[in-house]
This record gives sequence, C-alpha cells and structure tokens, in this order.
Amino acid sequence: MQHKNRSVLSSLVAMLFLIAWSCGNPDSSQPETQTDSPGIADSVQASLDRGRYLANHVTGCLDCHSQRDFTKYAGPIIPGTEGKGGELFDPKVGVPGEIYAPNITPAALKDWTDEELTRAITEGINKKGDTLFPLMPYMTFAQMSQADIQDIIRYIRSLAPIENTVPPRKLFIPIAAAVPPHPKPDLAKNIKPSPDDPVKYGEYLVRSGSCSDCHTPMVNGAPDFARYMAGGNSFSDGVFTVISPNITSDTLTGIGKWTEEMFLQKFAASAEKARQADKPGAINTFMPWEFFASMKQEDLKAIYAYLRTVKPVQQTIVKWPPPSSQKKAKS
Ligand code: HEC
Ligand code: HEC
Repeated sequence: MQHKNRSVLSSLVAMLFLIAWSCGNPDSSQPETQTDSPGIADSVQASLDRGRYLANHVTGCLDCHSQRDFTKYAGPIIPGTEGKGGELFDPKVGVPGEIYAPNITPAALKDWTDEELTRAITEGINKKGDTLFPLMPYMTFAQMSQADIQDIIRYIRSLAPIENTVPPRKLFIPIAAAVPPHPKPDLAKNIKPSPDDPVKYGEYLVRSGSCSDCHTPMVNGAPDFARYMAGGNSFSDGVFTVISPNITSDTLTGIGKWTEEMFLQKFAASAEKARQADKPGAINTFMPWEFFASMKQEDLKAIYAYLRTVKPVQQTIVKWPPPSSQKKAKS
C-alpha cells in the first residue's frame, strides 16, 4: 500500500512536471538551460494550493477542526485556531454522545504516516485503530480522487502546530450501531470529473462538501435519500435553532426559481454578514457560508448547475422557527 501510494504520487509529480515543462517549453528547439527541477517545486506548490482550497472552502476540514465564533453570523473560524480542534458535537446537533473534533495540526499528527491519514480521512479508522463516528464525513471523502486527498494531507501537514488535547469521545450507543456498512474505498478508482462538465463537477463538489449531510432529512439516524436535499434537519446550540432548507429544484418549496445570479448573491451576502458581529441569541446558522462563499465562482456555478438537476421534492421548511416553538424543535 505504502509503496503503491508513493509510486502513484511520484508518477503524478513526474506527470505534473512533464506538463509544466512542456507548457514552459512549447518550442522544443529552445535550449535546455534548467539544471535544477523548478517544475517539481511548482507541482508541490500546486498540490498545497489545491489542498488549502479544498480544506478551507469545500471539504470543511477547517470548519469542523477549528474553533468557531458563533457570536458572529455562521460562526467564522477564530483566527489562530486553525486545525486545533475542540468544537463539541453533541445531542443538540443530533449526535448520540459528546464528540470533540480532534486536533489535526502537526502537533497532533506528526507521527502519522500518509497512509494512516488517508485511512482516517477515507475509511474512518484512526492511528489507534478506533472507528470514527461518521459525523466525520469519511464516507463521502472515500469518493474523492486520490490526488485531492493527497493534496489535503499535504496542506494539513503545513498547518501551524498547536498543542491542544481534546477530551475523549463519549458515545451513548455502540460505535458499530452508528456506522452503516460501507465498502472499503479504492481511491485509485475515483475519478475527479473535469470542470468543463459543470453538472458532474458540481456533483463532485456537493458530495465533497457534505451538503447532503445537512440538507437531506434524517429519519431514525439515517438519511432519507428519497427526499435528497429536501431539508428539514434541526440544529441548535442551545441559543438558536435553525432548520436546513429545501435546496431541491422544486419551484414552490425548493430553490427551483433561483437564478444563478441569485444563488451566487446568496453566498456573497451571507458571507458578508458573517464578517460582522452579531448579537448572541440573534438569528444565526450552522451553514458555513464564509467557507463556501470563497469558493471559486466557477465552482459555485457548477454546484448551482448540479442542484438544478436534483429531483424536485415538495417540502416546505421554515428555516428559523418562531422562538415560542424553538424548545419543541427536535434536535
Ligand atoms: C462535520 C465535521 C467534520 C468535517 C467536515 C471533517 N471532520 Fe475530521 N473529524 C471530525 C470529528 C468529530 C472527528 C472525531 C470522530 C470520532 O472521534 O469519532 C474527526 C476525526 C478526524 C481525524 C482523526 C483524528 C484522531 O486523532 O483520531 C482526522 C485525521 C480528521 N478528522 C481529518 C479531517 C480532514 C482532513 C477533513 C477534511 C477532508 C475532515 N477531518 C473533515 C469532524 C469533521
Ligand atoms: C452544517 C450543515 C450544513 C452544511 C454542511 C451545508 N448547509 Fe446549506 N444550509 C444549512 C442551514 C441550517 C441553512 C439555513 C439557514 C441559512 O440560510 O443559513 C442552509 C441554507 C442553505 C441555502 C439557502 C437556501 C434558502 O432557501 O435560503 C443554500 C442555497 C444552501 N444552504 C446550499 C448548501 C450547499 C450547496 C452546501 C454544500 C456546499 C451546503 N448548503 C452545506 C446547513 C448546511
């Protein structure tokens, strides 16, 4: 496994090097003056940049594994806490137990090999052999391309190391009961669709961004895929309660009437709001607007294109139930 991954990576690096080289030298009659390998350094940089982009704007690694400020709209990351962990997930957000997001900075992960990290991220088994609670979206990361996972690993290894030990997990049910059967991932088989195919690429981004984890209604602890993206999950931190809306293409109860412009504008405006201080207790949300809004515009457009193709489901959602009914809202 170790050798296989290494050789895939080194052939990838070699390939990127070749591309970089051939782009830089369209005319093969040009003299070859470079003696070192700047192409390799560039591919490492490109991999780091892609990893940073995915971890901060698509896959939510830094969203869950940093501390967030919920006195502001949508809880932006508290600067200086990137990757240190410590956010609590408990019954208020639907978790049967108390799980603190672990520290994923090099202070905690320096002894992990790339294979061990890949296994945790895509199979949900950590270095100690413990099965991770599937709130950590390893089942969706298992469908990402090997290169994307490798880029994310490269990036989290570059985070500033922060010493921080989080309390151990307490589960009220056996972990086996929380983890549905799932195939062992074979990352080498996963294909990252070309951005030239916005619907396919948008689907890949939506899956990698775990949009469905929040937007597909949960019934008895399992997503009801017959109502994929129809919303209805309630989230609370004890201060505010918010229900995930219907983002299917239904024109009455979903976002079927939204133009691409409206969709982009919703992300931009909500991210802007997230930068301003909010009164604790005021209307707030767990939708990580700030992270997603800084996606590339073409990527948000691809997500929009894909969501247009999601089967319409008629289901009316009130995002913020009136305060009187908040206590009764299920969690
Ligand atoms: C929705 C929140 C969420 C997202 C998004 C998320 N994680 Fe996690 N992650 C968790 C939680 C919670 C745990 C602990 C689960 C447990 O102990 O059962 C965890 C565990 C881990 C572990 C195991 C650490 C250990 O010490 O056992 C690693 C490594 C990890 N995550 C990396 C990542 C990376 C990389 C990404 C992005 C590709 C990511 N996570 C995205 C919530 C998240
Ligand atoms: C942590 C849970 C969570 C995740 C992950 C999440 N959402 Fe949301 N989303 C919400 C909640 C809660 C709301 C309602 C409150 C609000 O508007 O902020 C919402 C609102 C929205 C809205 C506004 C819809 C409306 O009717 O106003 C859109 C569009 C949306 N999400 C799309 C997405 C997409 C696309 C993704 C993945 C890239 C995603 N969401 C990931 C929880 C989430």
